[in-house]
Amino acid sequence: MAAVKVAILGFGTVGQGIYHIINEKREQFKETLGVDIEIAKILVRDVTKPRSNAPQDLITDNFEDILAIPDLQVVFEAIVGEEPAFKYSALAIENGCNVITANKVMFSKHGLALQEKAKQYGVQVGYEATTAGGVPVIKTMQNILRVNDVHHIQGILNGTSNYILTQMRSEGLAFDDVLKDAQSLGYAEADPYNDISGQDAFRKLMILSALAFGKQPRWEDVDVIGITEITSEQVDKASAKGLRYRHVADVQLGENGELIAKVGPELVGPEHPLYSIEGVNNAVALDTNYIGTLTLVGPGAGMFPTASVMVEDYADMLAKQTAPVTI
Ligand code: NDP
Ligand code: HSE
Repeated sequence: MAAVKVAILGFGTVGQGIYHIINEKREQFKETLGVDIEIAKILVRDVTKPRSNAPQDLITDNFEDILAIPDLQVVFEAIVGEEPAFKYSALAIENGCNVITANKVMFSKHGLALQEKAKQYGVQVGYEATTAGGVPVIKTMQNILRVNDVHHIQGILNGTSNYILTQMRSEGLAFDDVLKDAQSLGYAEADPYNDISGQDAFRKLMILSALAFGKQPRWEDVDVIGITEITSEQVDKASAKGLRYRHVADVQLGENGELIAKVGPELVGPEHPLYSIEGVNNAVALDTNYIGTLTLVGPGAGMFPTASVMVEDYADMLAKQTAPVTI
């Protein structure tokens, strides 16, 4: 049985979820993946915070301790913001280590560069968790793009916004109260600005654009509007007419191969494919040439949906490493 060492960067909602799943499934992974996974270190910002659910000797605030782990196979990156996440991910790759990230702020900007670097160093980058939480949109797109062209992507990409809009309508709750609720449930970021301003959905849309089209629109050309201006009165009025607010992210190929993208709230009726997507769920509709329209729906945020797709990324990496060579 191969013993493998992994490290977790960040021990908040997502990092704790990864720690829990790896420990809970350790015996199963020995059988199904053929590895005995050891969580060798956990990087945090503040080592003095009390942490009841991991041994203190695993916790460090020094990234050098991560790089010093002999034969480190994977870094699960679940910290916040562009830096130092990009620097740490690049250093891990340069050290011959695979990287699995949930960090869309970092990956929307540096994803293509990191994937290029990973190729150079013969390692892999997993980024399923960056977009739509537990919905396997990245893997699905990677598969279908082998045969299909995608020409239009439309979706709900921020779980917090959809949760707020749903609770305002169905429970009659105030925006601020539902936002607090979304934070305590681990859906919203500690600083929820990106969630409610549309920036989080925008970053995810840019990740999908890079995957589908190999490029992103110029960021400054994309109109990005959040849900902060939507009032309870507007939600009630719309509801009385049988309409719902949805926060929609949209990118498509124009006639001349240019990318046209927008992010913002829309009022939709029951005939609209996003009308019935409720709560923390996300949805991604992909228009393709052969399949037609494929729509994926599921939890877009939260500890276990997110952590589980990160561990799945790891299982995929292991499967690729051991796949028989076919001629
Ligand atoms: P949290 O705020 O719950 O946790 C963040 C963790 O990262 C904390 O443990 C914090 O340390 C640590 N951290 C932050 N900055 C640094 C730093 N500079 N160096 C070392 N450690 C640092 O965030 P989440 O777990 O919710 O999110 C983690 C990442 O996953 C984010 O990029 C987020 O956007 C993404 N994500 C989150 C989802 C969710 O549902 N929550 C879903 C999909 C993606 P300390 O504990 O000491 O403060
Ligand atoms: N804060 C994000 C959301 C987490 O609400 O969608 C998932 O990326």
